[in-house]
Amino acid sequence: MLFDFDTLSAPDRYKLLTSTIVPRPIAWVVSQDAQGRVNAAPFSFFNALVGDPPVVGIGIGGRRPEDAPGSWKDSGANIRAIGQFVVNLVSFETREAMNVTAIEFPHDVEELKQAGLTTVASTKVKPPRIAESPVALECERLAIVELGVDRAIVLGRVVALHVRDDCVLDEKRCYIDTPKLDLIGRMHGGGWYSRITERFEMPRIPVEKWALKD
Ligand SMILES: Cc1cc2nc3c(=O)[nH]c(=O)nc-3n(C[C@H](O)[C@H](O)[C@H](O)COP(=O)(O)O)c2cc1C
Repeated sequence: MLFDFDTLSAPDRYKLLTSTIVPRPIAWVVSQDAQGRVNAAPFSFFNALVGDPPVVGIGIGGRRPEDAPGSWKDSGANIRAIGQFVVNLVSFETREAMNVTAIEFPHDVEELKQAGLTTVASTKVKPPRIAESPVALECERLAIVELGVDRAIVLGRVVALHVRDDCVLDEKRCYIDTPKLDLIGRMHGGGWYSRITERFEMPRIPVEKWALKD
């Protein structure tokens, strides 16, 4: 079946993308406005994009149609205003708290308080990180790719990364116990997520070991 993106509506294109590009890691973004108010929200249009320099990307969409046209989601507005943010990663244990922070609260409501979460000061950026998250990436805004009046891709350069102590296998070699992080991914539809309960190993094949076919 071919789906032609030139003729489909925006909601249908969204449905197709989010039903097929799965699972998507979730950036649980903590940002701050110019007055220092802390904001948190999850974004699954997210991934690590480059290793060197270390760059992550987040797609921040528009607000709901009933909201004022042209107004940014708070996370996007804050990243524009202060140029710094923290990407926390979401574990199975923190899934419900993450979901609370996705509620479209008015600007003055603190999502982290509503979700019963606590924060810890970051080392290099102003917004704090979420204490309950097993991984947090302190980021400096690298670029904003504008996609309309109220939506954009935010590119962030990672300047520091925190990993919960019990998930670090060897600090000197930077070996992490990845399965122990128990991170979840966003899947399709109204509220499907995935948990990494099955894995397999497949080492890369060096070109010298490959017998070329004619
Ligand atoms: C798991 C999950 C993933 C989400 N991913 C995105 C996303 O990639 N882009 C987006 O604009 N909104 C996404 N949302 C919706 C935002 O989290 C929601 O609009 C939030 O209220 C925005 O908050 P803010 O205005 O404080 O930035 C997602 C929600 C959930 C629950």
